[in-house]
Amino acid sequence: MSLKEKCPILHFVDLGDERGKLVVIEGARAIPFEIKRVFYIYDSDSTVVRGQHANRESEFVLINVAGQSKVRISDGIEEVVVELNKPMMGVYIPKMIWKDMYDFSKDSVLLVLASTHYDPKEYIRDYEEYLSLVIN
Ligand code: TYD
Repeated sequence: MSLKEKCPILHFVDLGDERGKLVVIEGARAIPFEIKRVFYIYDSDSTVVRGQHANRESEFVLINVAGQSKVRISDGIEEVVVELNKPMMGVYIPKMIWKDMYDFSKDSVLLVLASTHYDPKEYIRDYEEYLSLVIN
C-alpha cells in the first residue's frame, strides 16, 4: 500500500448554509476511529517544526480549522507533504507513521483528533529507532 493510501486525505461534509459553515466529525464515522483525545496547536510560527515522532498505538486526524500548516509524513520508505488549509479537510495518520508539522501561518489552529489517551511511552522520538522498527 502506498503512503498516500495509508494516509488518505479526508473531505468532511460541509453542512453550512446562509448562516455560516458547519463541519461535523463523528468518531468511527467520518474518521476511521473512535475519538479519545482532542488537542490543538496554535501560536506556532513558520520557523517551528513540531511532531518529529511516530506513535506505536495512536491514530490521528489533523485538521487546520483556521490558517494553514504542512505535515510531512513518512513510513520510512516514502515521504509525502500534505498542506492543511481548509477546515473541511483533514489527513488520517495511522500508527507507526513519522510526522513533522511545520510552516504554520500566524493564524494556524491545528486540530488533532486521536484514538488514544496520552501515553508518552508509545511515542518514538528517535528517527533511527523508528527506521529500525519499520524496516524489521
Ligand atoms: P509534543 O508531543 O512535543 O507536541 P507536538 O507533537 O505537537 O510536537 O507535546 C508537548 C507537551 O505536551 C509535552 O510535554 C507532552 C504534552 N502533551 C500531553 O500532556 N498530552 C498530549 O496529548 C500531548 C499531545 C502532549
